[in-house]
Amino acid sequence: MHRSLLAAIAAHGAVTTGAAATLKKRDASNPTVKGTPHVIGNVADPTLNRDSCGSSPFGGKALWVCRDTQPYDSNGIPTLPLWTSSASWTGGGLTMYGGDKSQDSFYPLVPGNCDDNQAGTCSDGTRYVRWANVPPLVTSTDSSGNTVGYTWISNYHISGLANEVADPSVTLYKVSYTAGSDGLPSAEIIDAGFWAENTIPYGNYGGVVQDGTAYLWGQGSNGKVALAKVPVTGVEDISQYQYYVNGAWTNAQPALGDDSATIDNVSAGGQGTYYYSQPWSSYVWIGQASESVSAEFYITTAPNPEGPWIQPIKFYSGVNGNYSLGAYSLQANPALSASSDNSIYLTYTKTDSVGDNVQLYTTPLILVEWE
Ligand SMILES: *[C@@H]1O[C@H](CO)[C@@H](O)[C@H](O)[C@H]1NC(C)=O
Ligand SMILES: *[C@@H]1O[C@H](CO)[C@@H](O)[C@H](O)[C@H]1NC(C)=O
Repeated sequence: MHRSLLAAIAAHGAVTTGAAATLKKRDASNPTVKGTPHVIGNVADPTLNRDSCGSSPFGGKALWVCRDTQPYDSNGIPTLPLWTSSASWTGGGLTMYGGDKSQDSFYPLVPGNCDDNQAGTCSDGTRYVRWANVPPLVTSTDSSGNTVGYTWISNYHISGLANEVADPSVTLYKVSYTAGSDGLPSAEIIDAGFWAENTIPYGNYGGVVQDGTAYLWGQGSNGKVALAKVPVTGVEDISQYQYYVNGAWTNAQPALGDDSATIDNVSAGGQGTYYYSQPWSSYVWIGQASESVSAEFYITTAPNPEGPWIQPIKFYSGVNGNYSLGAYSLQANPALSASSDNSIYLTYTKTDSVGDNVQLYTTPLILVEWE
């Protein structure tokens, strides 16, 4: 049975409301967990097996966008077809809804990239996947709730789990929601080669919008993370981007592998989420260590997007699944809290093996409160 998220929040009301009532600037240089994190339950559409979900705030609800998605058979075992991305809503509870009507990839496949099926599978068994590392970055919400966001997805062409091209080009998607609509937002391709092959894929690693500027982190296959910024009104116009290189902003895009574009300690190296914390007046990244396949959450913080970032701290370990890749796609979900809350909801993909090459994905939701 799914417990209501609101009920769970109410159970922690003393702490949460107290934090909001006595909002004060907190010290972000040493994030410390308060008490024991509360495992609330699984965020799920009971009809769908979904990999690697993350949430964004759209029109007063949480939009969840996931990677590979498939239905269950009558025994509850994941079955075909498979589509390479999907989306759903949650509205104050754990049940995802609204995403079961379409078996089409939420992010449209790139024309010509084995797009005659929604898994992106080619005749030689390789795939062109639409696997975002992070959910859409919201750049505008008007007073009625009409919302626009963007997602940058590396055009991975995979053979098994190996990339045919280590640093492929990147597609920019625009995600638009019309207020009051029962349907999901729509996603459209703005440019299937927004970032060229073998360049830094800004935005694929996460982003934050603050004071009308989108800050976009990019991580190439070398693991290094670099930062760009662009006015929220200019996201689709590459000439409006600036890049942080050698401690200053420049209009010249640095090359992939340029060490002077690398930002130290800006993450623990793996997948995660950037957001801005009001109680800490600080930028925050929460996620996993590089190459990690366990639910070990790290945090780092900085007063500015460009740093200085503290050395990442491990602050929570969740339960791993029994599949060889037992836990990944660790995410923070700022869309689920009020911006004044001195707490954060975590999710990750827990993967269990339920048959020969059949994986069952669950998305545990955990509430962490900070001192
Ligand atoms: C940040 O990163 C650098 C380089 O990896 C490292 O030497 C340093 O100890 C880290 N920590 C801080 C707090 O700067
Ligand atoms: C792994 O976990 C799944 C889901 O709980 C369970 O059905 C399966 O039997 C487990 N497999 C092993 C080898 O423990």
